[in-house]
Amino acid sequence: MEPDHYHEPVLLNETTGFLLEKANQDIAIKSNYISSKGFKRVFVDCTLGGGGYTRKILELTGNDTAVIAIDRDKFAIEYSRQVLSKYSSRIIFLQRNFSEISSIVHDAGFEKIDGITMDLGLSTYQLNHEEGFSYQRNTELDMRADKTQKLNAKDVLNTYSERELEEIFRKFGELKYSRHIAKEIVNSRKSRKLETTFDLVEIASQKIPPRYLNSDLAKIFQAVRIEVNNELKNLEKVLNDSIELLNDGSRIAAVSYHSLEDRIVKNIYRSSKKLKVLTKKPVLPGAEEVEKNVRSRSAKLRAAEKSSEIILSKNKYKDKILR
Ligand SMILES: C[S@@+](CC[C@H](N)C(=O)[O-])C[C@H]1O[C@@H](n2cnc3c(N)ncnc32)[C@H](O)[C@@H]1O
Repeated sequence: MEPDHYHEPVLLNETTGFLLEKANQDIAIKSNYISSKGFKRVFVDCTLGGGGYTRKILELTGNDTAVIAIDRDKFAIEYSRQVLSKYSSRIIFLQRNFSEISSIVHDAGFEKIDGITMDLGLSTYQLNHEEGFSYQRNTELDMRADKTQKLNAKDVLNTYSERELEEIFRKFGELKYSRHIAKEIVNSRKSRKLETTFDLVEIASQKIPPRYLNSDLAKIFQAVRIEVNNELKNLEKVLNDSIELLNDGSRIAAVSYHSLEDRIVKNIYRSSKKLKVLTKKPVLPGAEEVEKNVRSRSAKLRAAEKSSEIILSKNKYKDKILR
């Protein structure tokens, strides 16, 4: 596959810019400091995908800088290993879940990190080539980013109770017809189990008015995908653990693609007494990027900096976390 077809990175300069702007100032101060494994700095790319962010970080830094590159999808690791081979001595590739960030960093031989990025959601490759993610292609209802995991979309749709399904559609899809869709799925599976993405599309189509169909199908698929991959809990965990791992003055930059993710990022940044928020409003892609890459249209970037000062005025956000 051609490098450009795996995934077109979104908000690439903005995201890596946040990370490196500060880190490049600090490196002058740390000129005699060796962090670990001979590197002065280490960044973590939690969502390697096609390697766009990792490549940019490596391009803009020197041999004193390493990247721990994580993805739970083995295809992302295999692909990026190839296209980033010229940087191999500076990358630690790991097929892991980013929710295990603390042990990942420590196992890689580092105590603290100098910056962390995450670019949430799916890669174009996953949408176009892996099974279950897209409602526009008829494939098996899988939706696992990590194929060694047991739970898949078929299990969710064929074994969860009507109430559990309704809750998933409501909470993770913010879907208006949650109850109707859940009921129709449970009715339908009495005569025939759901096997393919088009089985789910067919059931949903019976309950959703045609003009809402595309946007609601996207929500239904999003909801099941979040459940299968435990996406929101993983995000809460990686954000909270990352704050502890960052060196003072280092930054975190997260790109999200729907309001549930964005809310989690925003609230965790705001409520942490150790973070100074750098983006009062999220950074959005410009018209040119959206025109070139339609998948970027819902992206929101939020960045923050670890601060050694205790930030007391943030208490008012404490109770709002993760509601
Ligand atoms: C939007 S893509 C990242 C694209 C990347 N920034 C680039 O430039 O090519 C998101 C990636 O995050 C990975 N991912 C999502 N959740 C993950 C998790 N909990 N742990 C590790 N990787 C995850 C997906 O498998 C996918 O490859």
